[in-house]
Amino acid sequence: MAGVRVRYVDIDGAHDDIEAEPGDSVMRSAVQNGLPGIVGECGGTLSCASCHVYVEQEWMARVGGPDATESDLLEGVLSPRRPESRLSCQIRLTAELDGLVVHLPEEQL
Ligand code: FES
Repeated sequence: MAGVRVRYVDIDGAHDDIEAEPGDSVMRSAVQNGLPGIVGECGGTLSCASCHVYVEQEWMARVGGPDATESDLLEGVLSPRRPESRLSCQIRLTAELDGLVVHLPEEQL
């Protein structure tokens, strides 16, 4: 199966493009590729909130919103929570998300 392309944009507007394995999370593909800006301290078990990203507006409908547990954790992120805030360990990469763009927050953890 082909990879799923994800673009990570930092606060300066610079970006990294990664081709992730289908089924990986947005957090895991960043960490595995050594991208700064996403920590993923809890390994994706939804207990740290160090994988905060802002989903590009046009992708919001396809990515969807957080569930109740994720939403609670999002209350504790360091950078401002916005409507497009998600914890990237909870965004599973499927072919439908090929080309996804996420923005990194100014501060993580
Ligand atoms: S990696 Fe810990 S909540 Fe996402």
